Amino acid sequence: MSAEAKFRVFVATRFLAEVEAAFDDAFDATFATDEAAPLDELARLVSSGARFDVVLFSLNVRMGAEEIAALPEDVVALATYSVGTDHIDFEAAAARSLAVFNTPRVLADSVAEDAIFLMLAGARRATESIDLIRERRWADWTPKQLVGVQLSGRTLGILGMGDIGQRIATRAQALGMHIAYHNRRPVEEGDGRGFGFRETPEALVADSDVLMIACPSTPETRGSVNAALLAHARADLIVVNIARGDIVEDDDLIAALESGRIRGAALDVFAGEPEVDERYFALPNVFMVPHIGSSTIEARLGMGRILVEGLTAWRAGEAPANRAA
Ligand code: GLV
Repeated sequence: MSAEAKFRVFVATRFLAEVEAAFDDAFDATFATDEAAPLDELARLVSSGARFDVVLFSLNVRMGAEEIAALPEDVVALATYSVGTDHIDFEAAAARSLAVFNTPRVLADSVAEDAIFLMLAGARRATESIDLIRERRWADWTPKQLVGVQLSGRTLGILGMGDIGQRIATRAQALGMHIAYHNRRPVEEGDGRGFGFRETPEALVADSDVLMIACPSTPETRGSVNAALLAHARADLIVVNIARGDIVEDDDLIAALESGRIRGAALDVFAGEPEVDERYFALPNVFMVPHIGSSTIEARLGMGRILVEGLTAWRAGEAPANRAA
């Protein structure tokens, strides 16, 4: 492909070397050197004569209305190296007629594996177990020590039954779990696959031993896992969040955990991350990891590949499936 035929892409986030090499090969790519303020760097490059068609970035770059309004005139598309798009203002992008691309499907197996990891960690009291052994406090084996719960035979309630939710469901079925879910619409063939639809999040929570938050962060879902919803919980509910931190009201979840109203929580994502509400650290029934759902080499390479393929197809006049807007 000649340089003229390639999109001029400003890569605002830095990626694994293999991913950057793929971008370099497919695009006329310029990689940010000012990782703390890449959009300022973009503006500086443009004021010295550089031109860009696409800005490629990830969750660390917020594309709000202000940032989008300030983008250089030539930009025709935004490409986010993430499946989530809540860091992008779609109205502002539409007002500038920008196409938006993201990375669905390629990370779904990795995120589903992370979800199972967290669910098991919550069920088997991983934080207390790890602390006990690593702090050299483990004195003896006793039948009363660190008694958790078996997942087989219990019900996993999945809030948000998209591609990731469904992949979590099939893995949990292999553990012997029953699957219930709430989604805007029942999923195709859900009943035949053993997925029990619940009309409301309240009905889902009431029937669940584990609540798996797997929905996108939208105005409807933000703050929806709150005291009113948790009031429907069984006494030994474990809440797992692999979606976005702001879907949970931290005050309410922490109150339920502190009071023993629910059994525990296992969290991959946090409102305002990388800041984490201090109160979670004091809770032994909380297992936490730093947003690692798609942090596998397979997902990371796939995310790069789907952006290359999508942008290349779009440039050729096709309508790629990973066009989000
Ligand atoms: C990760 O959270 C993503 O949205 O890809």
